[in-house]
Amino acid sequence: MVASVRPSLWSIMETAIERVHTGIPGLDHVLEGGFPKGARVLLAGGAGCGKTICCGQYLYKGATKFGEPGVYVSTEEPPSEFKANMLRFGWDFKKLENEKKIGMVDAVYQRVESELTESESLQSILYNLRSKLSEVKILVEQLGATRLVVDSLPGFGFRVTDLNTLREIFLEVGLLLKDVGCTTIMTTEIVEGSGLISRYGIEEFLATGVMVLSLVKQSSPLRKLFVRKMRGTSHSLNDYAFAIGPDGIVIKGPVGVRSVSHGRRRLHSNSGRKRRSHR
Ligand SMILES: Nc1ncnc2c1ncn2[C@@H]1O[C@H](COP(=O)(O)OP(=O)(O)O)[C@@H](O)[C@H]1O
Ligand SMILES: [Mg+2]
Repeated sequence: MVASVRPSLWSIMETAIERVHTGIPGLDHVLEGGFPKGARVLLAGGAGCGKTICCGQYLYKGATKFGEPGVYVSTEEPPSEFKANMLRFGWDFKKLENEKKIGMVDAVYQRVESELTESESLQSILYNLRSKLSEVKILVEQLGATRLVVDSLPGFGFRVTDLNTLREIFLEVGLLLKDVGCTTIMTTEIVEGSGLISRYGIEEFLATGVMVLSLVKQSSPLRKLFVRKMRGTSHSLNDYAFAIGPDGIVIKGPVGVRSVSHGRRRLHSNSGRKRRSHR
């Protein structure tokens, strides 16, 4: 008997990539339903582009709407500041922490500890880093977290200027991310005019996806999101306009395209539409 060369429905279902909802209205449509499960997504952008809000929204919606616990690793600001900022959107991370739906790791001290003195060696930086990363791993396991945020990656290498040392640091972080297997967003800063999509041009090598946020100052400011890479996903290469409003980030639609149908929902361009109070 000749075996059928057509894949069975069952084999298609088996190979289908499971999707993780982003929690950002409009973004799942751009990504065939969400991030591929287990993806490591680099979220790059200049200061004030909305990276931290995007991360907070991803974790908050994951924990409250989709029953997926998450861990937030902060290397730039103390978790207390992050929590206070997120409360502006009504996202109560303290409550979620108490309910064991969210875990917070304060990795800011890492910056201080990794200040290089003459006698300090790469080994001692890596020693400190590994102990911080094992804290992350334990918390992920304790909570059964499936979502992870590292905000930001370059924060782990604060004051480190040697590229080889930075590579080692990012390699350690990359190993942890693979090990825990969460669907992860990690942020990095784009320095204006550098021509790079990350702070050091290394971070993207840890990522299976790259999304770039930007803020264009035209006659009125325009916030844009661009999915540069998302492994296992057929995504548009359009820029998408987004707004930050009282409920967080909302994708408004492709920039420069009048109207595009995405499944049953319709996303509209920002052009020619009445501006809302969102910024
Ligand atoms: N409640 C809010 N409503 C609308 N916009 C806000 C609100 N809070 C912050 N923003 C905007 O978001 C920006 C900060 O976003 P953030 O995610 O912290 O940026 P990043 O992490 O990329 O530096 C602010 O500069 C401001 O423009
Ligand atoms: Mg930030």
